[in-house]
Amino acid sequence: MLVLGIESSCDETAAAVVDDGPRLISSIIHSQVAEHAPFGGVVPEIASREHVNRIAGIVRRALEPVGGLDRIQGIAVTGGPGLVGALLVGLQFAKGLVVARALPYVAVNHLEGHLSAALLAEPRPAYPHIALVASGGHTQLYHAKAFGDYAALGGTRDDAAGEAFDKVAKILGLGYPGGVQIEKAGASGNREAIKLPRALLARKSFEFSFSGLKTAAADYVRNHGGRLEGAELADFCASLQEAIADILTRKAILAARREKAPGIVLAGGVAANTRLRELLQARAAAAGLWAFAPPKVLCTDNAAMIAAAGWMRLTRGERTPIEQSAQSRWPLGAMTQRGRHRSSTPPHGVRP
Ligand code: KG4
Ligand code: ZN
Repeated sequence: MLVLGIESSCDETAAAVVDDGPRLISSIIHSQVAEHAPFGGVVPEIASREHVNRIAGIVRRALEPVGGLDRIQGIAVTGGPGLVGALLVGLQFAKGLVVARALPYVAVNHLEGHLSAALLAEPRPAYPHIALVASGGHTQLYHAKAFGDYAALGGTRDDAAGEAFDKVAKILGLGYPGGVQIEKAGASGNREAIKLPRALLARKSFEFSFSGLKTAAADYVRNHGGRLEGAELADFCASLQEAIADILTRKAILAARREKAPGIVLAGGVAANTRLRELLQARAAAAGLWAFAPPKVLCTDNAAMIAAAGWMRLTRGERTPIEQSAQSRWPLGAMTQRGRHRSSTPPHGVRP
C-alpha cells in the first residue's frame, strides 16, 4: 500500500511517501526556520500562513517519484499534538485529497510519528524496548511493547529538553533553533568546564525537570558580564549539552533496567544531537543494552515518520472519521491509577 504522509504540526511543512514495509520512497521537508528566527521561536500565525503557502508544492514534490496522486492508496496526516492553526492546514489539505479520491485515511499522533521513524530502518529495532521522545514540545519515556502499545513511564514536569536548548540559546543570543546552535557553539568546548544542575536524577523516578537549567544559565550569564564569548561560550554550551544528554541517557537506562527491556530507541528533534547519540550508545553498551537512533533527518520533524505510522495503522484497517479535527493535546496513552499510562486503546475518535 503506497501511503502519502503529511506533517504540519509546528514549523516544518513536510510530505512523504512510503511503500510496504514500511519502506521510504520520498521525503520532502520545508523548514520555516528563516521565517521564525527573527523572533527567537515559532510564531503560530506565521507558521500557519507558511504552511498554507508551501503545502501544495511540497506534496507535489513528494509524489513525483511514484508518478503522482493516482498511485497513492492511503493518506496519513498529523492530527496532533501541536499548534492547532498549523495542524489544520495539513489536515484540511489531506481531507481534500481523501474526499476527491475516496482514499482511506488516518490521523496520526505526532509522538507516535517520532517513535515510528525507527520503523524505516533496515533492520528495524525489535519490540519491546524503551522509547525516549525528546523534542521541542515533549520529553517522554515509554515502554513500547509493540507498535501502538505504549506504557508511558514519565515525562517532564516543566520544560521539554528541546525547549531547554531553545531557551538557553535565546539567553545566550545564539538564535533559533537552539539545539543546533548550542551544539555548534559548544563543538570545541570542554563539557566538564561548568557545573550545571541535573534535577531529579537522585529520585530514580522517570520524571524530568529542565527549568532549573534555564535559571542556572541566566544566572551564569549575568554573573559573567551579561555576555559569553569565545572559549567561555564554547565551554558553557558543551557543559549544557552534557547536562541534558546525561539526564536523558541515565533515565532511559534506568527505565530499561526497571522494565527489563533489552534496548532503547531515541526519537524527536533532540535525538539529532551527536553527543546525546554517542553517550546513549556508550552507556547502553556498558549496561548490556542495545540503543538505536534514526538518521538525524528522521529525528527532527518530517512526514516520513507520519507516513510510517500511518502505513502501520492503515494496513491494519484503521480509519479516522473525516469529521475529526486537530487536537492540540493528544497524550500517547491513558493514565492508570499507579500514575503510569497504558496505551493499547485507540486514541479518541479513531476506529479500530
Ligand atoms: O521534533 P522536533 O523537530 O519538533 C517538535 O516536535 O518539537 O524538535 C525540535 C527541537 C527543538 O527544540 C530543537 O532545538 C531541538 O529539537 N533540536 C536539537 C538539535 N536539533 C534540533 N537539540 C539538540 N541538538 C540538536 N542537534
Ligand atoms: Zn516533533
